[in-house]
Amino acid sequence: MPTMKTLFTVFFLLSIKAFLWRVCHASSYSSLIRSDFGRRYPTDEQPLSKIAIHKAVIALHESASVQAGPLLLGLKGEDTAWVNVELKYPEPSENDWVGVFSPANFNASDCYSESGKSHEAPCICTAPIKYKFANHSSSNYVTTGKATLSFQLINQRADFAFALFSGGLENPKVVAVSNPISFANPKAPVYPRLAHGKAWDEMTVTWTSGYNIDEAVPFVEWGQTGRSPNQSPAGTLTFTRGSMCGPPARTVGWRDPGFIHTSFLKELWPNTMYNYRIGHMLFNGSVIWSKMYSFKSSPFPGQSSLQRVIIFGDMGTAERDGSNEYACYQPGSLITTDQLLSDLDNYDIVFHIGDMPYANGYLSQWDQFTAQVEPIASIKPYMVASGNHERSWPNSGGFYATKDSGGECGVPAETMYYVPAENRAKFWYSTDYGMFHFCIADSEHDWREGSEQYAWIEKCLASVDRKKQPWLIFSAHRVLGYSSNSWYAMEGSFEEPMGREHLQKLWQKYKVDIAFYGHVHNYERTCPIYQNQCVNPERYSYSGTVNGTIHVVVGGGGSHLSDFTEINTIWSLYKDHDWGFVKLTAFNHSSLLFEYKKSRDGLVYDNFTISRDYRDVLACVHDGCEPTTLAS
Ligand SMILES: *[C@@H]1O[C@H](CO)[C@@H](O)[C@H](O)[C@H]1NC(C)=O
Ligand SMILES: *[C@@H]1O[C@H](CO)[C@@H](O)[C@H](O)[C@H]1NC(C)=O
Ligand SMILES: *[C@@H]1O[C@H](CO)[C@@H](O)[C@H](O)[C@H]1NC(C)=O
Ligand SMILES: *[C@@H]1O[C@H](CO)[C@@H](O)[C@H](O)[C@H]1NC(C)=O
Ligand SMILES: *[C@@H]1O[C@H](CO)[C@@H](O)[C@H](O)[C@H]1NC(C)=O
Ligand SMILES: *[C@@H]1O[C@H](CO)[C@@H](O)[C@H](O)[C@H]1NC(C)=O
Ligand SMILES: [Fe+2]
Repeated sequence: MPTMKTLFTVFFLLSIKAFLWRVCHASSYSSLIRSDFGRRYPTDEQPLSKIAIHKAVIALHESASVQAGPLLLGLKGEDTAWVNVELKYPEPSENDWVGVFSPANFNASDCYSESGKSHEAPCICTAPIKYKFANHSSSNYVTTGKATLSFQLINQRADFAFALFSGGLENPKVVAVSNPISFANPKAPVYPRLAHGKAWDEMTVTWTSGYNIDEAVPFVEWGQTGRSPNQSPAGTLTFTRGSMCGPPARTVGWRDPGFIHTSFLKELWPNTMYNYRIGHMLFNGSVIWSKMYSFKSSPFPGQSSLQRVIIFGDMGTAERDGSNEYACYQPGSLITTDQLLSDLDNYDIVFHIGDMPYANGYLSQWDQFTAQVEPIASIKPYMVASGNHERSWPNSGGFYATKDSGGECGVPAETMYYVPAENRAKFWYSTDYGMFHFCIADSEHDWREGSEQYAWIEKCLASVDRKKQPWLIFSAHRVLGYSSNSWYAMEGSFEEPMGREHLQKLWQKYKVDIAFYGHVHNYERTCPIYQNQCVNPERYSYSGTVNGTIHVVVGGGGSHLSDFTEINTIWSLYKDHDWGFVKLTAFNHSSLLFEYKKSRDGLVYDNFTISRDYRDVLACVHDGCEPTTLAS
């Protein structure tokens, strides 16, 4: 592990982006990743959890001060803004830090303890949204006691205050608190995210606001340019502290999520551009509007057109102002986001297959994440899957009993994002994009033969007409197929135990082309596999009968990277220990291009093509043969 000193010297010298790159790639880097076995090491902790906020005490110092400005943000309707925070403290020390709190009166927030007893001493019962060390941009802070920090804030329904702490992260003492600052309209509708509805001609728009239905009526105004617009109503959901399963989501990580609205835009024409904006109609008749956005509707299932899909997992979130980042928690998150942003015109739909913000029970992070992906998700359908960092919690109905969700037990994910599942608490669903049919499984719920999900997976795979939709894709967050990741190798399974044992027969029977997974933070592609064997010696250009499924780990969306085992797995064709994503391009019913791109440069590092006719899918191979009769 690098020392804080080296980290922060680099921090100071380089811009944020360069920092992410350097610190995470320099000498410190290999030791960082080598010690990653999943959950025991500091890189795998939500940075906000490093602050012992429950131990914080108030120790205001009469000549310490924190000044924040400007006082009013977003005067032109912006939902992000930069602010300057000036510190003065006559007894500075190296480990002083500044926390960003929202709402601003954080000291007055209700303390909620799991035991039911409130603490005796005055205490702070809510974690900051983010933090920086006081010396972040002025290394002479320790001698002068003066520094100016700059933070980027996003509109998240409440005002903000900045508090200077001494005592480091372990024994925090508030020495000064800033004036509050606020966005002009904290309740404004923000961060729209598109997703397919249950029908091919339906797009859903989900967003967050501070307006409950007793204050304003939420809706979306939408239509084609030059035609009169439609208005569609939206449903409103929220969730409470009581629906969280444990700490920190239920304690210091809790933050009011506001209101989550979803509107269903129906009877869309295929491949057509639509404009939309969000409105909240107040009861005196005036409307609070969002910005104007646009999207292209999806093709009719089976229709031939150029169709391009992006898929990755485990992207996480990161702060552009450099807050929280010393831990390298999701060091690649912004480079992936930015790479996808720079190529917006060249893909049509995005699948983020689980582990989205890694909020881990610090609920403010859901706003950070939805804000980070907004420029993508507001114009492309952004389809998500459920990961352990969304769902996993003991005794909460999931398949795993780990505490990876930090007490969220799936509630924020199932509310913040729409997926066309029958029941969003069971996060599996199918969706179509023209010649693609996707079966998105939920590896946080039992998938084994005999389970409800297994029956659904079979139904999803069986329901596709391959002459119309030749490209059949299976996906789940955890690796249910094949991975040479070190911790799976140590278990000797090279997969999530009981994954392929149960599902392989379905992939084989229904001739799934490609199965995608996240969870393991790297990239790996296998040969076409049947019964654990490579069935095709070809590496780059597949044609002829479909007799095996290609398994792809694409969990390098941004989180700290996972190591490969040194064991040489026979089925592994390409491994990359870096951040990246996959792009699939269907040119027509007989030609598919697969490309793996690194996030850092957007260039293709691995690729293959599939070229085939419909009869190659029908052809009898292995046990996928329909019974025949000699009767005539
Ligand atoms: C800033 O403070 C951190 C946290 O205490 C410390 O590790 C680091 O060395 C300091 N950086 C500089 C440039 O003084
Ligand atoms: C926080 O609340 C405590 C207890 O009510 C009070 O003593 C203290 O002055 C407050 N501190 C600030 C910074 O408002
Ligand atoms: C409606 O109420 C809002 C908020 O109170 C106010 O800003 C707006 O001017 C009012 N509009 C009309 C038409 O009265
Ligand atoms: C699988 O199909 C490919 C392409 O048709 C063929 O070359 C290969 O021999 C087949 N493998 C097996 C084991 O049948
Ligand atoms: C399908 O697309 C590929 C790649 O563009 C092209 O080479 C091929 O001729 C097309 N096939 C048909 C049947 O249109
Ligand atoms: C795909 O990979 C091959 C082999 O690495 C390379 O020669 C080819 O240029 C790549 N094609 C595309 C379209 O990226
Ligand atoms: Fe995961």
